[in-house]
Amino acid sequence: MEAKTQQIHRGLRGVYADTTTASFIDGQVGKLLYRGYNIHDLAEKSTFEEIVYLLLYGHLPNRSQLDEVDAALRESRELPPEVLSILTLIKDCHPMDVLRTGVSALGSLDPDANDNSVEATRRKGIRITAQVPTLVTAHHRIRNGLDPVAPDPELNHAGNFLYMLFGQRPQEEEMKLMDVDFIIHAEHGSNASSFAARVAASTVSDLHSAVVGGIGVLKGPWHGGAAEAVMKMAQDIGRPENAESYARNLIENGKRIMGFGHRVYKAEDPRARHLRDRSEALSLKKGQPQWFQILAHLEQKVMRPYRDKGIYVNVDFYAGSIYYLMGIPDDLFVPIFAMGRIPGWTLQCMEQYADNILIRPLTEYTGPMDLEYVALEERA
Ligand code: ACO
Repeated sequence: MEAKTQQIHRGLRGVYADTTTASFIDGQVGKLLYRGYNIHDLAEKSTFEEIVYLLLYGHLPNRSQLDEVDAALRESRELPPEVLSILTLIKDCHPMDVLRTGVSALGSLDPDANDNSVEATRRKGIRITAQVPTLVTAHHRIRNGLDPVAPDPELNHAGNFLYMLFGQRPQEEEMKLMDVDFIIHAEHGSNASSFAARVAASTVSDLHSAVVGGIGVLKGPWHGGAAEAVMKMAQDIGRPENAESYARNLIENGKRIMGFGHRVYKAEDPRARHLRDRSEALSLKKGQPQWFQILAHLEQKVMRPYRDKGIYVNVDFYAGSIYYLMGIPDDLFVPIFAMGRIPGWTLQCMEQYADNILIRPLTEYTGPMDLEYVALEERA
């Protein structure tokens, strides 16, 4: 193998590829801002509809601006019948694969399909944000032999998602929980899925193609797939007293504990706190305190020494327990992450289009050089 002569930044760790006004992250102290606003204020005081506006327009909306974006979201929830037919054809596939295919189909049918202007991209971003919960819930019901539930224009984004999933109006508390979950997942800098979306946009491909790329990247267990894996782990552990030996066994065998660690955060992921308290409250309310107890034990006791290496809980750690306690099946955990992230993907594509440069890094070749081509019939 040839010796490396270039400085290689494997995994693009620590590389700044561009500037952004989408979000600011200080991983050393665990700080996250969307468009300048602290995630803690947004999680406690805002709504997902307001975050959609903030991300896509760059400032907090006044009342009439908020009403306008909210109305556009509510009006765009329906799916074309062609897409519903596709969902039926692939009903037995994993919801993340169905979502990827569904968004791709929506892209083919979108009235602004090949228009990458700011206005059209914003319109498409709002439409995809509104349609994705309908896609996910329609597929879930079809695979269970049920009819999809039509969107309810009276309900907000989060409430309508739960309504279309379960077929009954959700409680106020659960609607708020889902709203906070969408808020804290909406945008997160140059994470793997947003970067994938940006790469697509950098070729001047369309928003739907970029979002399809983002969905494909998000599904991996080292990214959005972690929430599903955390809940499976909690179920395998079964009781808090088993957590220590379970985690040690994994780590000694070179495995990772899902829901811990982050490329950027070397302190606690600021989004985690908004789900930790809610996970505790919900487990008590549902009479199933064991799930929170197992997770809290893992975080506070078993994984505490790993903080010295910068490994803290991330946003996915408590998310799975909340979805589980709300009765949401575990293969819908990643699609829920995707629902929240559409505005962030859209914004990053808008930034890319606004000042485009093709994203095309280099890889240093370390294979053999100038080999002699041997004809097929002469090869051993
Ligand atoms: N459990 C145990 N050890 C870990 C974990 C973990 N979850 N995460 C990192 N480490 C260890 C690594 O093994 C490595 O140890 P070493 O130096 O002895 O080899 C060290 O910490 C540094 O890890 P890196 O590989 O440099 O971290 P990287 O930035 O590449 O990875 C990642 C970040 C992929 C998120 C990683 O922490 C991980 O796999 N976590 C589990 C999956 C997860 O929760 N993903 C969700 C992330 S948040 C999100 O996407 C929304």
